[in-house]
Amino acid sequence: MPGLLSSPVCLTVIWFLSWSLRPSRAQIWTDEVSGVQYGRLESNVTLACGESRTGISVLWHLNNSSALPWHKVTSNGSLVLLHADLSAQGDYSCYDDHGLLLHSVTLRLGHPPGLLSISCQVPNHAHVRCSWVEKETFLPTKYNASFRGLGEEWRPCTVDITHKFCDLYQPAFWQPIHTLKIIETNGLGSETTFVRFKLHELLKPDPPKSVVVKEIEGHSMRLIISWDYPSSWPLHDAFPLMFHIRYRPQGSMYWSEIYSLDSPVVVFDALAGHLHQVQIRGRDEVNSESQWSEWSPLILVRPWEDLTTPEPTDDYLPEDFWITKPETSTAKSHNPSLEDEGNLGLVILLVLFSVVVLTTVLSLIFVVWVRQRRRDHVTIQELASMVKMKSMPI
Ligand SMILES: *[C@@H]1O[C@H](CO)[C@@H](O)[C@H](O)[C@H]1NC(C)=O
Ligand SMILES: *[C@@H]1O[C@H](CO)[C@@H](O)[C@H](O)[C@H]1NC(C)=O
Ligand SMILES: *[C@@H]1O[C@H](CO)[C@@H](O)[C@H](O)[C@H]1NC(C)=O
Ligand SMILES: *[C@@H]1O[C@H](CO)[C@@H](O)[C@H](O)[C@H]1NC(C)=O
Ligand SMILES: *[C@@H]1O[C@H](CO)[C@@H](O)[C@H](O)[C@H]1NC(C)=O
Repeated sequence: MPGLLSSPVCLTVIWFLSWSLRPSRAQIWTDEVSGVQYGRLESNVTLACGESRTGISVLWHLNNSSALPWHKVTSNGSLVLLHADLSAQGDYSCYDDHGLLLHSVTLRLGHPPGLLSISCQVPNHAHVRCSWVEKETFLPTKYNASFRGLGEEWRPCTVDITHKFCDLYQPAFWQPIHTLKIIETNGLGSETTFVRFKLHELLKPDPPKSVVVKEIEGHSMRLIISWDYPSSWPLHDAFPLMFHIRYRPQGSMYWSEIYSLDSPVVVFDALAGHLHQVQIRGRDEVNSESQWSEWSPLILVRPWEDLTTPEPTDDYLPEDFWITKPETSTAKSHNPSLEDEGNLGLVILLVLFSVVVLTTVLSLIFVVWVRQRRRDHVTIQELASMVKMKSMPI
């Protein structure tokens, strides 16, 4: 800070000397801006016009304009910005009543650092990444981060200032507790945040990679699942991972599960003819207090199907598998217009067909009826003639 403060004074002295020696060069210095002053937002910020100017009247400019935010000028020439907000930032210059530059300063406004909220990820035994979120300060900020186990020396945690995290390597994993210390500093002050953590509880591998699920030819109920260690787990010979595989027919609520140390794994009870969802995650095998990784992305695969026989094998279907059946039917109606057109054609055909059938049946009935009537008529005539014959005197 003394460096910052002394340079404007120094420049002013130099300017004063050069001005008194060669008045014609004064203009060259007029807009020279030197030094930065930091002020707190929403407070009254005082800008001094160089050393005390008691007795002379001064004029202040902001960004080469005489329009200033809400302010007052004290008797010694200082400018007090009242309840300054972000719009009051800029380059301030004070001039004497001859229009000569006396002093200039750049004002930056913001907040002093606050406590950080820190969280740490431990993707393997050799690396810890701690990231943080902070209160917005509006000011350029520096961080000094270091860590240590109980009774150890502080070791640096390498800071990525843009993404606000630091990486610490080769921590002493056998230490039960580690402490991370981050000192945040800006133009208005500094704040130190401590956080303690247990590495063995935070240990959480990245999800397994290159997960592949395939059908097995000739087996309609089998799937073969293979995967690799996450690339962030370099020491897998020394620290094996336990893997947790889960799978289910698409639409089912219930997962089947397998635990395995080694890839690949074969599933023997897949539901023939159905699309299956498969996921896998990993955890340090030895350390049961550590965390499971996130699940790998869902993989969809169908077991091998014998396409020469039209009938699917009659595996029993547990009722659960149909619980989300309505979803499948809603998914089906994605293209309603096309399907509707098809349905309409079918309906018209059916109607035409039934009209034809109905007409044929009706005409047949009519023909039969007409013939029946004729026969009835004939019989009646015969009967009548027989009766006549009977009643004839013999
Ligand atoms: C800022 O200055 C004004 C006027 O001098 C005063 O009323 C106010 O209380 C001051 N505010 C702070 C936060 O000091
Ligand atoms: C000018 O006066 C104000 C009070 O009015 C004081 O805070 C400030 O330190 C003084 N500045 C200088 C440069 O003497
Ligand atoms: C003020 O004017 C000078 C030259 O006239 C220029 O170099 C400087 O950038 C200006 N400052 C601002 C904030 O506009
Ligand atoms: C003054 O200029 C700076 C950049 O040179 C800008 O950030 C600031 O908003 C300006 N202030 C005003 C009041 O125009
Ligand atoms: C950071 O802090 C450590 C200890 O807290 C200290 O030894 C080191 O010098 C600091 N580094 C910087 C760049 O300030």
